[in-house]
Amino acid sequence: MTPSAMRGDGKTGGNTHSHRHTSPKRSKLHFTGGGSYDIFQRARFQPVCDHLSMTGPRDAGRAREWDALSYDRVGAHMAHRGAGVLERIELRGSETVLDAGCGTGRVTAQVLERLPAGRVIALDGSTAMLDRARERLGGDPRVHFIRADLTEPLALTEAVDVIVSTSTLHWVPDHAGVFRRFADALNPGGRLHVDCGGAGNITGVQDAIRAAGVTWSPWNFRSDAQARADLEAAGFAEIATWLSHDPFELDRRDLKEYLRTVVLGSHLERLGEAAGQLFLDAVADAMPAPIIDYVRLNIDAVAGPTPP
Ligand SMILES: C[S@@+](CC[C@H](N)C(=O)[O-])C[C@H]1O[C@@H](n2cnc3c(N)ncnc32)[C@H](O)[C@@H]1O
Repeated sequence: MTPSAMRGDGKTGGNTHSHRHTSPKRSKLHFTGGGSYDIFQRARFQPVCDHLSMTGPRDAGRAREWDALSYDRVGAHMAHRGAGVLERIELRGSETVLDAGCGTGRVTAQVLERLPAGRVIALDGSTAMLDRARERLGGDPRVHFIRADLTEPLALTEAVDVIVSTSTLHWVPDHAGVFRRFADALNPGGRLHVDCGGAGNITGVQDAIRAAGVTWSPWNFRSDAQARADLEAAGFAEIATWLSHDPFELDRRDLKEYLRTVVLGSHLERLGEAAGQLFLDAVADAMPAPIIDYVRLNIDAVAGPTPP
């Protein structure tokens, strides 16, 4: 893959305790549909869509399998973004850090570089992703791997000092719930640092999905204000939430693999091979440019004292 990352403002640092919304450098993409997705293709595909279209409830944010090898091939942008998140984290080097949704472990590896005397709990819901993370980091005695679903109570055997989560929480429908579980997992004063899709994320891709005749939107893209409310409800303090624009341009040849692996995976799984390929072709063809118009929700927060 030869992606040329088009970072907007790329702003990830800072700790002001107010909402921030950085203005996009690239205007949002709007698809009118069509592209080379012709009417005959649509006629073949539409009955499948009608049968399987959904807005998300059946997805319910449950952990599922991911294609780990493909994710490592096309997911360099996420590792780069993870590095941006880590830049704003202060670490002494002896903390215990939970990487919630560690994927193939590329961001986890970067956390470990900052923890000469610390430990990482690498948690993910996908066996394939965890296996790849084990290959990458398995020999490191500072890492403990856990397969768990973030929609369920976290079965950690110890409290942690820091929770990092990158490119994951938009798959989890109930943020207030997951933040409560994070608050329980953190030591008092422990810190939470999150990057995930936020309000307005991938509107161009969503337009292309609709242009393909499908109503499917499994993601939980919260605004900075909603995230703040979720965090307050979960007992966090010193909260900073902000949105940032982070559009990413792929090589056109990589677009379908990227969409398949990173964006459309759970719907493709349900469609099966033939209908899935038609859907993938339709979405890619409806995108005028191979640009994923990411809007990120960034979160820094501190766990309050444990209630008496
Ligand atoms: C896009 S990858 C991000 C991986 C890594 N943090 C990175 O930045 O490269 C999203 C990860 O979240 C995990 N995930 C999504 N929903 C989950 C859930 N409900 N429970 C546990 N893991 C989940 C997936 O298995 C996947 O590995």
